[in-house]
Amino acid sequence: MNGADRDRAGSARRSQFDATDRTRGGGVGVDSWERLVLDCPLPRLEARVLLEAASGRRREWLIAHGEEPANAAAAQAFASLAQRRLDGEPIAYLVGAREFAGRRFAATPAVLVPRPDTETLVAFALAHAPAHGRALDLGTGSGAIAITLACEREDLRVVATDRSDAALALARRNAEALCPRALETGRLQLRPGDWWSCITDDERFDLVVSNPPYVADDDPHLREGDLRFEPRDALAAGVDGLDALRSIIDGAAPHVAAGGWLALEHGHEQGEAVRALLAARGWREAATHRDDAGRPRITCARPFL
Ligand SMILES: C[S@@+](CC[C@H](N)C(=O)[O-])C[C@H]1O[C@@H](n2cnc3c(N)ncnc32)[C@H](O)[C@@H]1O
Repeated sequence: MNGADRDRAGSARRSQFDATDRTRGGGVGVDSWERLVLDCPLPRLEARVLLEAASGRRREWLIAHGEEPANAAAAQAFASLAQRRLDGEPIAYLVGAREFAGRRFAATPAVLVPRPDTETLVAFALAHAPAHGRALDLGTGSGAIAITLACEREDLRVVATDRSDAALALARRNAEALCPRALETGRLQLRPGDWWSCITDDERFDLVVSNPPYVADDDPHLREGDLRFEPRDALAAGVDGLDALRSIIDGAAPHVAAGGWLALEHGHEQGEAVRALLAARGWREAATHRDDAGRPRITCARPFL
């Protein structure tokens, strides 16, 4: 949905990477490790990340041995990954992981690739969660938000939900890798279900956070760049992109404790609409905050007294 995605979609159509030609003859005449990177039409950093994945070597090793001939199998694997990247596949799916808030999360096409923008929501949550509080992450996907909260704040109890079984399975895998104890003890719970359906009537949270789908169904960006490869259910939300935000706001009041917060990520042009939805339901102190790039991206509010 950003400019880089759009630019990449254009360049993917223009360029075809022919690194496979370089490995002709089953390895005879294979380029050096560094030449593979330099001749690849991808941004240098992306090429290095893919070469790491293709070779199983760390970046430092690849740079230190840059002038040596590349292993033919790795060069072939690199060519294939580079072409898929040029065709638009998110790099996180190609290498199977993405860093979020300083931790490495497994990523598959079952989930949205965690975005740095969402760290704004996490920063708000960490700053506003009371000691020994309860937090709920609706639509957890890879588990990026919930697991980061559980890791950063061992005093919090965290519930994470998603309608997608495949997403929840990946969130479980990430939790087993990043905070196994929280999962074992039930301090972190993963629940399947549609928005509020897996929350019992009497459950209250000090903090409810969500990065729900918020792109309009007919937004042309859904047919461009990386977004083409991500689950539509994680991206699109009705004719105006607000269906998921409406459902969450409509059901939130009974589940946010007095003095607690509801914090929602949304598109940079949706702040006013989200504040209006909150106001219509009687939420107070609704305010929209900017992400690190200066775009209004999260709106937070407190329940009426
Ligand atoms: C934009 S993704 C966010 C994923 C993750 N929280 C993140 O920030 O990277 C939205 C998530 O909401 C889930 N979702 C979509 N509709 C849902 C619904 N009706 N109930 C529960 N989860 C839903 C999707 O499966 C997806 O994992």
